Amino acid sequence: MLVILKRDDEEISRQAAQLIAGTVQRNPDLRLGLATGGTMIGVYKELVRLHKQGTLDFSRVVTFNLDEYLGLSATHPQSFHHFMREHFFAHVNIAASNIHIPDGTIRSNYDQYCAGYEEAIHKAGGIDLQLLGIGRNGHIGFNEPTSSIGSRTRLKVLSKETLDDNSKFFAPGEESPRCAITMGIGTILEARKVLLLATGAAKAAAVAKSIEGPVASAVSASSLQLHSDVTFIIDDAAASQLTQRDYYRRVMEMTALLTPERLS
Ligand code: GLP
Repeated sequence: MLVILKRDDEEISRQAAQLIAGTVQRNPDLRLGLATGGTMIGVYKELVRLHKQGTLDFSRVVTFNLDEYLGLSATHPQSFHHFMREHFFAHVNIAASNIHIPDGTIRSNYDQYCAGYEEAIHKAGGIDLQLLGIGRNGHIGFNEPTSSIGSRTRLKVLSKETLDDNSKFFAPGEESPRCAITMGIGTILEARKVLLLATGAAKAAAVAKSIEGPVASAVSASSLQLHSDVTFIIDDAAASQLTQRDYYRRVMEMTALLTPERLS
């Protein structure tokens, strides 16, 4: 597990975009797992900037988003379909047929639909690089606390904490979705490389438990300790409860010296 400490959101976005861009340049057919949330906005902005500059071609990239709210259509302003279009897809050259996001409008046969999403990932050859944010309760995707470490794409009931965090994005009086379709932790752990970004003091406890705590279903992101190629990029505020910050800085220095390809 590589822990990269950065000062703020801007530095994180630049470092993450550089890493993603480098991976796309080395493998133009990259199967890229994407995430939503405020933390991702700067990363997408930077990727769009690199694309417009002419240095980044997404024409052969295939994408799979982590999750979508159940009950929201692709045009709903709070849907993850809408988020992805606004912040990324409308501004780069990813073929529409290469974009996969769970469909929040399905009303039946959930297990069959979710198995189909898993099958699509499998048929594409698996995810090469999965981008992740983290919830205050340690969730990744919408894998709420107590999600099984072996879980696959499925319907998931959202926790009280997540409902509270999300309610502010919905219009007053509008009911926010109670459920979502999300890739499972087992699905995420099969990605060849994982990149998790976190900013702000509200994420500090979840980040510390994920990196330095025991692997536990109570903190979904702690399951990433079982993966062989995970990079956390976190700002000072989100890193404030880590006890080994000096060590992570020394590892970073040596990584830059000995294996710089891990950073680009
Ligand atoms: C949602 C998404 C997660 C994301 C989280 C954090 O719950 N399902 O994938 O990590 O939001 O969002 P933010 O970056 O806005 O804190």
